[in-house]
Amino acid sequence: MTILSNGHLWKHTEFIQNKNYSFDKTEILKSLSIKEIDEAYSGISNWKGYSKTPLLELNKLTKELKLNKIFYKDESKRFDLKSFKALGGAYAVEKVSKGNKDIVVATATAGNHGRSVAWGAKRLDIKCKIFISEFVSDARGKAMADLGADVIKVKGNYEKSLIECIKQSTNNDWQIVQDVAWKDYMTVPKYTMAGYTVMMKEIVDQIRNDQITHIILQAGVGGMAGAMVAGIARYLKNIPEIIVVEPDSAACVMESIKTGKIEKIDIERESLMGGMSCGEVSLVPWEILKNSVKYCISLPDDDIAKTMKLLGNASFSNEKIIAGENSAPGVISLITICEDEKIKENLKLNRDSNILLIGCEGDTDQAMYQKLINQ
Ligand SMILES: Cc1ncc(COP(=O)(O)O)c(C=O)c1O
Repeated sequence: MTILSNGHLWKHTEFIQNKNYSFDKTEILKSLSIKEIDEAYSGISNWKGYSKTPLLELNKLTKELKLNKIFYKDESKRFDLKSFKALGGAYAVEKVSKGNKDIVVATATAGNHGRSVAWGAKRLDIKCKIFISEFVSDARGKAMADLGADVIKVKGNYEKSLIECIKQSTNNDWQIVQDVAWKDYMTVPKYTMAGYTVMMKEIVDQIRNDQITHIILQAGVGGMAGAMVAGIARYLKNIPEIIVVEPDSAACVMESIKTGKIEKIDIERESLMGGMSCGEVSLVPWEILKNSVKYCISLPDDDIAKTMKLLGNASFSNEKIIAGENSAPGVISLITICEDEKIKENLKLNRDSNILLIGCEGDTDQAMYQKLINQ
């Protein structure tokens, strides 16, 4: 029985090509340097408990879509945190602390970044303050408190929690470890991105003789996507076709690529793809993504739960894969692109293609995961 040809129509909302596309390795590595990338790998790969996350193959889906290989980087196995985010915030804490255990680190977060910062602080025995908005679930707050962080709930949204974090950090001389860059605050977000590039180093070691022809990258503020593009510039000889995927309610990279400058989106409806529900691309990633991304695709939430279920019951691969809400969009994008003959041909997706997808998280929110796969 085929998985896909059962009458279900896989949907995307918009697909665009970047008219300013030109992949320039030297330019990209000006935003995140080889030194910064290499330092992150040598640091993180020496952490206690470090091991590469698996690079799986979606062999059943490959057959259906008539491709050569689909690789799936399974970040559900990343340390104890079940997400690539563990590489970013925790590495930034290490860099900021410079071996000094007497500092206090602070961050504002919707969840996963804060967990990484809290975990990184615990690893180094450093005090940690986490600011969350009143809308962050108690379960997420508790997960950070369980890592030893002092969790402070702030009335209002994420922006309010960031303002409070900056205010209290300034008053108390705490070190802010944020993953989003703004003017005059670029160094720490760069550390988080350097941490994420570890994924690309591992992938290059894992694929051996295969050559990646296409890569689909999820984006929220663009940190992960920007880091992976920098990793491509650092480690790959060839240049794959780079496609960014976002929720259609928060396609801030797509809108910025359309006009060639950063565009802010008013998010009217929060996507199920929570980590990707961001209204503005961050400065450092934007410098990397604006020319190197060739295509952007946006998705509704419709197929997220179904895809998580199909990954979870081994419909796409030999093994069952625990994939969270933010892991599904890479798979969905690939399917909708392949179901549109014109786009598929334009992207040269065929029996010679090796596609890389990033399974950026597992069941980071277990209650949500269970609810979605049981739908
Ligand atoms: C859990 C989670 N948070 C956030 C993001 C987005 O990352 P960034 O904000 O760096 O673009 C992703 C994936 O894209 C994710 O899986």
